[in-house]
Order: sequence, then structure tokens, then C-alpha cells
Amino acid sequence: MYTEYRKEVNFSESPNVYLLSLKEKMNEVLNVIKNRTSLRNYDNRDISVEDLNTIIESAMRAPTAGNMMFYSIIVIKDKDKKLALSKTCDNQAFIAKAPVLLLFVADMQRQYDYYKVSGVKEYCKKKGLDYTAPSKGDFLLACSDALVAAQNAVIAGESLGIGSCYIGDIMENYEKHKKMLNLPPWAFPICMLTFGYYKEDEKKIIKSRFDKKYIVFEEEYKNLNHEDFKEMYKEKEKYVVKGNKFNAENFGQLIYGRKSGSDFMKEMNRSVEVALKFWDRHEL
Ligand SMILES: Cc1cc2nc3c(=O)[nH]c(=O)nc-3n(C[C@H](O)[C@H](O)[C@H](O)COP(=O)(O)O)c2cc1C
Repeated sequence: MYTEYRKEVNFSESPNVYLLSLKEKMNEVLNVIKNRTSLRNYDNRDISVEDLNTIIESAMRAPTAGNMMFYSIIVIKDKDKKLALSKTCDNQAFIAKAPVLLLFVADMQRQYDYYKVSGVKEYCKKKGLDYTAPSKGDFLLACSDALVAAQNAVIAGESLGIGSCYIGDIMENYEKHKKMLNLPPWAFPICMLTFGYYKEDEKKIIKSRFDKKYIVFEEEYKNLNHEDFKEMYKEKEKYVVKGNKFNAENFGQLIYGRKSGSDFMKEMNRSVEVALKFWDRHEL
């Protein structure tokens, strides 16, 4: 393969570009990562049992804090439930059309239920140790576990011709989702993934990313200045059209209006604050 590829490449390219594309050509994993896109338009076919199992088992092979798997995965195929979720997740109709949804739950409930049956409270009392409920650190650890697993599912799906899309809006409407999905207090729905096969004629659009120099720093954090931001957002500024819905004069104003300052973001912050009340390390 190496020799064949050497014949194809343009040797006028820099050695780094050459080496990177060579690695991609020879390494299917890098190929899948580089060509992944968020898919919101799915083929009608159901996902095969075998493929779904592969996706789930790949998620479960992800690294996990202390090998304890502080997450649960809820597989959702029911039409009515998908429709309800498409509404509670900021009215995104495509969610209802995805053959399968995987909900990743940051889950400390199972761990603490296990502590209960293991007599940990009594053990702590005997040993003079504190026995307290999960707190913000446990919350973030469980979220980390769940998200790391979710991304493994995305990459596994993509390698099988199954596209996916993260639904961050699952963090909204906590009370409704808690009821709809029978979630106990220390189980928070941190992300949802839609899954479906790519349509045969699907034209992938690979979205660009910011230049590495604004995202990756050497040894310590770097604060960006006005000039850096001007350069960093140069491409995005082109999306700001006169008379836009947010009356924005630049991309910063536009993206604040559309995302950070939006109603859905207000709802997400409210919802997470309600959920976090359970994660306050109170006495058990
Ligand atoms: C945490 C998170 C939440 C997201 N939430 C949504 C969502 O609710 N709806 C949606 O259509 N896309 C959502 N996305 C997908 C992003 O819009 C997408 O990744 C981004 O535009 C880059 O496009 P690409 O994935 O095709 O490269 C989310 C992605 C992440 C990582």
C-alpha cells in the first residue's frame, strides 16, 4: 500500500502534509475521524441489531474513571417517545425521524445504590468516616464518563455507515425528561445521540474548524487579544448579513443572539440548576 500510495502523491507537497495524508490513507480510524460530520437526515432503514450492538459495545470500551462506568445508556426507538423528545429538545423535528436515539446519562445513582446494598453507611459509621451524597465533582466525573463513551459510539457508528448528531438540548426541561425517562435524582441526561444510516446520495459537508493556534497552547493558557479574535473569526464574519434577525453588527453579536443569549440557553441553564440541587453532598 505504501508503494502504491507513493506513486499517487504529489511530491511538491511539504513532507508534513505528505506524511499526514499518508497516515490517513493507511489508517482507517483517522479516515473515519476526519470525514465524520453531524448527520440530521437519515435513510429509512432500521439500524440492524448487530450494528446497534457494535455501537453500544464500542461506547462501553471507552476509558472510564476508575473503570466504574458512571453512566447509563438508554436506547430509545419508540415513535411517541422520539416525537416527545424532538419537542422538548428545542423543537428539532429530525430527532423524531432518527431510527434510534441513545441517551447518555451521567449516573451516580447506581453507584450509591450499590453502596447502600454494600452497607457502606454502616461501615463509615464504624470507622468514623464521612458518608455523604454525590456532589458537583461527582457530577462532572459522571458527565465526563458519559461523554467519552458517547464519542466512541459516534466513531463506531460512522465506521459502519451510520451517521449521528449530538443533541445538547437534552439538558433542557429537566423535570419533563426526569418523568418521561424515569430518571432517579443522581442520573442526569448529559447528551443524546441520534443514529441512522447515511442515505446513498448524501453529500457530506465537512465543516472547517478554527486554526489550531487559537485552540492548542504550549504549556500554559494563552489569553487571546483583539487582533487574534479578528483573525480567528475572519471567515465567520462573512455570515453576518445586513438586516439580520439579531440586528448584529459582527459575528460575536450574532452568535450571542443565536446561542449564548438565546431562550434555549436560558432554559438549559435553568434546567441544569434544578438538576444540580440533587448534587449537593447532603447527609444520607
Ligand atoms: C455538546 C454538543 C451539542 C450539540 N447539540 C446539537 C443539537 O442540539 N442539534 C444539532 O442539530 N446539532 C447539535 N450538535 C452538533 C453541532 O452542531 C456540530 O457538531 C457542529 O456544527 C460541527 O459540525 P460537524 O459535527 O458536522 O463537524 C451538538 C454538538 C455537540 C458536541
